[in-house]
Amino acid sequence: MQARCISELSERQVHIWTFSTSAENDVVAKCERVLTSDETGRAAQFRFSGDRESFILTRGVLRHLLGCYLGLHPGSIQFEYSSNGKAALASDSGLQFNVAHSRQMAAIAVTAGCDIGIDLEQMRTLPDLGQIAARFFCTEEAAEIDSLPEGERARAFFTCWTRKEAYIKATAEGLSRPLNSFRVMKQPGEPGNLVLQDHEATVSESWTLHDLHLAPDYAAAIAYRDRPRPLSIFPAIDLAQLIDIS
Ligand SMILES: CC(C)(COP(=O)(O)OP(=O)(O)OC[C@H]1O[C@@H](n2cnc3c(N)ncnc32)[C@H](O)[C@@H]1OP(=O)(O)O)[C@@H](O)C(=O)NCCC(=O)NCCS
Repeated sequence: MQARCISELSERQVHIWTFSTSAENDVVAKCERVLTSDETGRAAQFRFSGDRESFILTRGVLRHLLGCYLGLHPGSIQFEYSSNGKAALASDSGLQFNVAHSRQMAAIAVTAGCDIGIDLEQMRTLPDLGQIAARFFCTEEAAEIDSLPEGERARAFFTCWTRKEAYIKATAEGLSRPLNSFRVMKQPGEPGNLVLQDHEATVSESWTLHDLHLAPDYAAAIAYRDRPRPLSIFPAIDLAQLIDIS
């Protein structure tokens, strides 16, 4: 796997990996074994066991995956964190990644040589969807969602949300960047490729956003600082297999 993956990344590919955030106890235990004391300390702070298990699995899978790319033991991988909490590899490998989880699912985006962010949300009915959109999105985005038939609003809301979060995760700003400080717009004639506009309507050509269709009831998006790159979305990871082979 290592040689193939690395050569694909050197051709500017973006790899998307997904997996379930619940697993058999032995898989969780194997993931926990490769975590650092900082990470197990963070896991211990979760109030609900489901959240703790999800964090352990996600971090364990991230370590195993990056270990496969880099030819390293998962436990030996070292992360460093931006001031807003974005994890990056401490080594100068050129590999960039980002992680998202929502309910029963997690996703990891990996590429080389450019900032990347991914977001994932399980779509659900939100009774106050219009109010959340009005509070967090740009006026035009909220109005667009409001204008849709009721049955289409949740998908539009979560699509807008994940596009925005993918972008603020790519820049590492996180929610320190207000979600209504930029717009995610469809680029005419190029379905799937989106452009970002700030309030002065300046098109940012150095960013690409893609919606991702990872599971029927999930909205997801990636953002990266480059022109469009080839995208590979792999079948959901079999956790037991990944952990045994790496
Ligand atoms: C980065 C941020 C936007 C993450 O949002 P989130 O939707 O809660 O969480 P996600 O599952 O998408 O992402 C979490 C991962 O992002 C990464 N991350 C953390 N801070 C980050 C940052 N500043 N930039 C990029 N990635 C970041 C971490 O790897 C984290 O995974 P980990 O906790 O397993 O280490 C965060 O700043 C935040 O505060 N979010 C709250 C969002 C919210 O209120 N959502 C409501 C949805 S309706």
